[in-house]
Amino acid sequence: MDAKHATAIPTPNSTGEVVTLVDKRTGNEVQLPVLSGTSGPDVIDIRKLYAETGYFTFDPGYTSTGSCASNITYIDGDVGILRYRGYAIDELAEKSDFLEIAYLILYGELPSAAEKEKFEQDIMQHTMLNQQIITFYNGFRRDAHPMAVMCGVVGALSAFYHDHLDIFDETDRMIASDRLIAKMPTIAAYAYKYTVGQPFMYPKNGLGYAENFLHMTFATPCEDYKVNPVLARALDRLFILHADHEQNASTSTVRIAGSSHANPFACIAAGIASLWGPAHGGANEAVLNMLTEIGTKDRIPEFIKRARDKDDPFRLFGFGHRVYKNYDPRAKIVQESCHEVLNELGIKDEPLLEVAMELERIALEDEYFVERKLYPNVDFYSGIIYKAMGFPTSMFTALFAIARTVGWIAHWNEMIADPVQKIGRPRQLFTGAADRPFVPIEKRG
Ligand code: CMC
Repeated sequence: MDAKHATAIPTPNSTGEVVTLVDKRTGNEVQLPVLSGTSGPDVIDIRKLYAETGYFTFDPGYTSTGSCASNITYIDGDVGILRYRGYAIDELAEKSDFLEIAYLILYGELPSAAEKEKFEQDIMQHTMLNQQIITFYNGFRRDAHPMAVMCGVVGALSAFYHDHLDIFDETDRMIASDRLIAKMPTIAAYAYKYTVGQPFMYPKNGLGYAENFLHMTFATPCEDYKVNPVLARALDRLFILHADHEQNASTSTVRIAGSSHANPFACIAAGIASLWGPAHGGANEAVLNMLTEIGTKDRIPEFIKRARDKDDPFRLFGFGHRVYKNYDPRAKIVQESCHEVLNELGIKDEPLLEVAMELERIALEDEYFVERKLYPNVDFYSGIIYKAMGFPTSMFTALFAIARTVGWIAHWNEMIADPVQKIGRPRQLFTGAADRPFVPIEKRG
């Protein structure tokens, strides 16, 4: 990495406008500056609100709160736009590859040919795991969920790379970042191998990133395994689509964990934990389970009815998004890729794909989904591809975690470098018991 690609600090601009709040209780006025970025809605800067008024804001789920300024990813959810560092996702998915995108997300620019080659070498030289780490796997049950294994093993990396890491040193941060991006596929592939009782396959650093992962997952020492280039390309493209998504739950988790200056490996383990939930990255696994449960097209109306029923906790997995109120641009690309992969594998009829497409068609015409602007998201079709490639459903979210590691690290890096950033420490609206005297046990009713 050269100086021109060092982490740039996000710098919001003042619009010169203010929003004036009048406290009716006191008649006091407070003027809050309005800031703008390069794209997206302006924001009201409330950092001085409490000091000047004694009020906090209340925004559970952060539906109206920008937690930071960032230069990395931009989403316009109303029209369905996603850009990494200014480049449209569909163009990147078509013309680029995952490691090039990783470089772009981390350093802000597309690499030159020489920079790309060096970055690929830097990453691929870190793919192996320390032999001591490999012994950890024996401590897990054979049926452990891969995401549980990943939380544990990635967190444990901090035991190996803590002492020589200065998070305020850009080069140290870069080495930690290379290690994480390089080792995630190995850690995930070994989680799978452990479950199926096959020997761990060492990484082959001459292969591409997705290719190497497929090799570590599906090859055995007994026979030659040639990675299908169409599948490797499809997986690489899925990795591109999942690489970053601005301040989503897992990225915000990594930022909050890192804001206390914790070890980055531990912070990424926290991100993996957050990603696992079915409202977030775990949705890809939940979608496939749901499609399997639906089974045939004639049962779709029953599930749509359940999704609409407020007394039923069931939700249509793979549908809806906090930011997209239009078609998720990633879902379109995943759907196209799905047909390509099934074609390549000679799968003519995939009942789950048929159910998925019909479910999408019905939902997009259904008043409940139309009113709420609920569209298929990135997780809706991805599981069908992963299944066709041979991954068990439990591995789906692990695949998401491999790709999202790039975004997590880029955000962690951006945050550490940003002098404005403080420890993440939200406040609360306390609604519990007010002050009350302790009651000795013999006097409690
Ligand atoms: N099925 C049925 N109803 C839904 C769904 C759904 N999938 N998603 C949202 N709604 C309804 C929700 O009940 C609410 O209705 P009402 O206004 O009548 O109370 C309305 O739509 C707004 O939903 P919300 O829960 O307030 O929206 P949110 O922004 O808090 O939640 C979400 C976003 C993604 C968690 C949610 O849409 C959901 O649970 N979807 C299913 C899980 C899923 O596919 N997650 C993957 C998201 S994309 C990839 C990723 O983040 O990793």
